Amino acid sequence: MQKQVLITGGANGIGRAIAIIYMERGDRVFVFDCLAPTNENVITLVALGIFYVQVNIASVTSIKAGFKVLSLTTLDVLVNNAGISIDSLALRIDEVLWDNVLDVNLKGAFFCTQQALRLLCRQKISYIINISSIVALRGNAGQTHYAASKAGLIGLTKSFAREYASKNILVNAIAPGFIQTNMTTSLSNSIQQNILSSIPLKRFGSSHDVAYLVDFLTSGHADYMTGQIIELAGGM
Ligand code: NAI
Repeated sequence: MQKQVLITGGANGIGRAIAIIYMERGDRVFVFDCLAPTNENVITLVALGIFYVQVNIASVTSIKAGFKVLSLTTLDVLVNNAGISIDSLALRIDEVLWDNVLDVNLKGAFFCTQQALRLLCRQKISYIINISSIVALRGNAGQTHYAASKAGLIGLTKSFAREYASKNILVNAIAPGFIQTNMTTSLSNSIQQNILSSIPLKRFGSSHDVAYLVDFLTSGHADYMTGQIIELAGGM
């Protein structure tokens, strides 16, 4: 059955891979991202038949406007994927940097979910997938703010799962390790080699590794699972 799927931060990287998987199956796919519609990556996404709305996930007003544009009556899947990481030692993190990271990664996911709930509730069963991070579970030097935002997503996942279980909205999170995207290719070669040596599978993950797991979790083959955090980190 054709699904209606909304993915935040779907213009690039992991979100884009998720959007394309659903698109190729014939689902109706909607993407929120902050990039301008004239951005090359957005243009190619729209050319695939994906419905794009420019939304700044850090702004509740922008999220509400995005949902208005979609004017959906139902939704089957919400993937809270939009995220930023701006690494900094804790002593150098000022209020602006803290708010920037937390507003996109955590506040954005909460308010997108809040807007989507009434649409998800109308289906017999529906799904929310939050893209957290392995650093939410283990911590990482230089990422206190990012790790806190991703750990916050775990609390959101577990609480929304309990609050909406009676409506059959299944809420789970994925905690990826090192996935090769724009977010990670900017790291220096030596940092990348360091990370690689700590991954038992001896390779970085791909956006598709994450997309396939999202697909499985929303396929109907994992419907007794809610409030769970699945690590996808090559055995790290
Ligand atoms: P990316 O940087 O390749 O893509 C992120 C997308 O989010 C971009 O299209 C960007 O325009 C969009 N975005 C950023 N700020 C936004 C805002 N304010 N409003 C709307 N859209 C916004 O990143 P990547 O690697 O694909 O990451 C996707 C998610 O996966 C993020 O939440 C990230 O924290 C998480 N993650 C990534 C890992 C990695 O190794 N790449 C590891 C663990 C988690």
